[in-house]
Amino acid sequence: MKLRSKDLLGISDLTPEEIRLILDTAVDMKKIVTSGMKKSSYLQGRTVMTLFYENSTRTRVSFELASKYLGAQAVNVAVASSSVAKGETLIDTGRTLDVMGTDILVIRHGNSGAPHHLAKNVKASVINAGDGMHEHPTQALLDLFTMREALGDVKGMKVAILGDVLHSRVARSNILCLAKMGAEPCIYGPSTLMAPGIGLMGANVCGSIEETVSGADVVMSLRVQLERQKKALFPSAAEYARYFGLNPGNVSGAKPGALWMHPGPVNRGVEMPTSLVDGPQSVIDTQVTNGVAIRMAILYLLTGREEH
Ligand code: CP
Repeated sequence: MKLRSKDLLGISDLTPEEIRLILDTAVDMKKIVTSGMKKSSYLQGRTVMTLFYENSTRTRVSFELASKYLGAQAVNVAVASSSVAKGETLIDTGRTLDVMGTDILVIRHGNSGAPHHLAKNVKASVINAGDGMHEHPTQALLDLFTMREALGDVKGMKVAILGDVLHSRVARSNILCLAKMGAEPCIYGPSTLMAPGIGLMGANVCGSIEETVSGADVVMSLRVQLERQKKALFPSAAEYARYFGLNPGNVSGAKPGALWMHPGPVNRGVEMPTSLVDGPQSVIDTQVTNGVAIRMAILYLLTGREEH
């Protein structure tokens, strides 16, 4: 079985079978990540470029490591010091990197749809590493992988997603992904940070933290994205923490052994206290490790569409 498209732009484009293929491939990739060697030659002779117009630690570094562990050439285009600063357009930048022989372009951009626009204009495969408030498909895939690894098949599982839903591409990709795989995503956040119509994507919209979390197998907290707020949508970080942050009391109705997840970076003491972030049920570090394996699987499957 293969991925149908040359690009990975969103969960909305993937079938449940393709999602399963990526997760199953990541199981083997994780063996490379956790082995002493951290080396293979599946992508020998290939070039992967990361083009990030927004800040990132986990996603950008994990794509770079994933490329290197697979034996590819990994090139990071430092956007701030590139010709983008001279006004070069996204398409001209993409075409320039394309004719240098890149096989895969990994892009993060503040505008929703930028990776889709790029993909139509370059020969290279394009991977969406986060576009505006739209999608972050590789995050949803690594989250699903982490849930499946810890708890088994997600079909029928209740996954509580709480916080700044409005600005969250992580929430949108997770809702789409979980709904496709037969899980029950339940969402809640401050009314000023809820996205109108989000229920149409397949999420059950709840009325309180306690209702959202009740009986949940997984509790996923979202980062408050202050950088995307054009005006203050809540009074202060302290009030957000008090009324909308997770704490041991308001998550106590989750299933025993439920997983605490967060895409990172965490605003400690705002979305979650350190006691949950670093507690025994937290899989936040595992999410980061699994991000490398998932991105290796995607690079492998996209480059190998013809030959593997
Ligand atoms: N989760 C996530 O996208 O983190 P980064 O912004 O550090 O890549």
